[in-house]
Order: sequence, then structure tokens, then C-alpha cells
Amino acid sequence: MACFLASVFFLVLQSYAAPPELLQAAVTLHTLDLEAGTSANVSGDLPPPGTSKRAPHSIIIGVRKGGTRALLEMLDIHPEVAVAATEVHFFDWDENYAKGFEWYRDLMPYSYPRQITVEKTPGYFTSPLAPERIRAMNSSIKLLLILRDPAERVVSDYTQVYFNRLESHKPVQAIENLLVRNGALNTRYKAIHRSLYDVHMRNWLRHFPLEQIHIVDGDTLIHDPLPELQKVERFLNLPPRIVSSNFYFNQTKGFYCIRSDGRERCLHESKGRPHPAVNSTVLQKLRSYLREHNHSFYRLVKRTFDWQ
Ligand code: A3P
Repeated sequence: MACFLASVFFLVLQSYAAPPELLQAAVTLHTLDLEAGTSANVSGDLPPPGTSKRAPHSIIIGVRKGGTRALLEMLDIHPEVAVAATEVHFFDWDENYAKGFEWYRDLMPYSYPRQITVEKTPGYFTSPLAPERIRAMNSSIKLLLILRDPAERVVSDYTQVYFNRLESHKPVQAIENLLVRNGALNTRYKAIHRSLYDVHMRNWLRHFPLEQIHIVDGDTLIHDPLPELQKVERFLNLPPRIVSSNFYFNQTKGFYCIRSDGRERCLHESKGRPHPAVNSTVLQKLRSYLREHNHSFYRLVKRTFDWQ
């Protein structure tokens, strides 16, 4: 029955199907001297005078489905922030890392000296390689981590993969079939593993002090974005420039959208998708498995969250 209901739910949702998030790195190649005015990229566009390409001052390291896109777009409101257009996966994909720091820097936006550059690659948080490699690049970099209720995150993760598979005509399964194996919670399911925040955080804390990782409450960001953005401004030592009129609630989308530079924009339709109703017994199993991990995470970060 649960299976049938899930299928009906997703058939209704097919009209929301959206392309997977852009993961491909930018393809524009640049000459080695990256100072504006002394080089042009091969596509012929000259960089704005006075700008240059610089390695990021801050990275949004995850978590996948935590609200990373919303955080990046909202930070982009700030005049002293320049955000990277694409996810780079520099530190977690060996084939990218092998291309070297110059290749990585080339993928950053042109920015003015007073601006800070921010990129986001949500896969970093759960990557065993990323913390050590990021520290090797810049041990004083400021890291941003946006987290939401880990059980909710599992469902969001499932929903994204579900739609990606539909798009590429691959078979799909009801979430209960993935969450449960032989009557017990399937802890080998990748979406569950990504929600073990304590496991991943422990790895980051081996390479960075807690003060260098600012945690954004992704659940709060959904309902009340401004205070979370103001905390990020303070963490990044930016002057306060993001204000309440930069946000408006869009009834149709059911989420806050952004008003900046005379333009209004909501996130892509793949952000803020309806989730399937999960069988309550299965959801309980998932929540009770995550509970201990959540408490261990609270101890690590010396802070609590309203996760069920
Ligand atoms: P859902 O689509 O499951 O609701 P990420 O960008 O890391 O993939 O995170 C996607 C999540 O960002 C969405 O998950 C949504 O809940 C959340 N989000 C937070 N603020 C949002 C906003 N203003 N508009 C759309 N989605 C937002």
C-alpha cells in the first residue's frame, strides 16, 4: 500500500521534474596571468578593469540538500561578495585536484580587491579527502556549513535522486524500500550515511578548529533567512549590508525569494520540491537511529539544534 501511495505521489509530481543541479565545472580557459587587463579568456571576454581571479576566501562545504544553493544566492546579495557560478568538486575529485590550484582559481569569478570570493561544493562535508586538502591550500580559510534536520535531509536527498533517475530514465524505488532491508533500517543507504553529521564533523575537526567552521541552521534559513545571513556576515567580517527588504515570501513557491539590484528571483524549481509521505514506522526507525548521532554532533559543536 505504502509503495502504491508513493508511486501515485510521484506520478503527480512528475510535472515538477527538473534537471539535476549543474555539477560541471566551467569550461572557459584563461591565460596564466589572471590580473584583469593583462589577460583575456579564450572566449574573448575581457574581465572588468580592476578585478582578478583569486582562490576562495570562504567555502560552503555542505551539507548536500542542506540549503547550500539558497545560502550562496543569498550571500550573493552582499556587494562585497563574489560567488562562483559552478560547483567545482576540486578537493573531493582526484581528477580535478590533479589539475592543480591554478585550474581551480581559474574557475572562480573575477572579483574586486575589496570583495571576498565564495564557492560551494556540498559534497565536501562528507568527503574524507576534502578537509586535509583544503587546509593544505589555506589553513585560515573560513568554512560555512549549512545543516538541516538530518531525517528531513535524507528524504530531500532521496527526492533529488528520484527525480534525477526519472530524468535519465532509470528505475526508481519507493523510499521505504531503500530505508529498510530485511525488516531493519538499512544503514548502508548512502543518504543515511550523509546525515551522520557527527561522523563527518569529526573528520573536519581533525583539520580545522571549530571557530573556523560556521554552522548555518538550514531549517531557520527556510523560515527566516535574514538572521542567519547576518550571522554569516559577522563570521566573514563583512559590513552589514543584507536587509529584510532583500527577501520576500513567494506564496506560489512556498519559500522566500530574493530581491536585489532591482530584480526579484526565486531559486530553481528543483529547490523546494514537495517530499513524499514516508511510512511513519519507517520514519520513526530512521529518527531513532539518527538521534544518538545528533547528540554526539551537539557535543562536538557545543550547540544544539531542534532536530526531532
Ligand atoms: P527540498 O528541495 O528538499 O525542499 P541544496 O541547495 O543544498 O540542494 O538544498 C536544497 C534545499 O534548500 C531545499 O530542499 C529547500 O528545502 C532548501 N531551501 C532553503 N531555502 C530555500 C529557498 N529560499 N528556496 C528554495 N529552497 C530553499
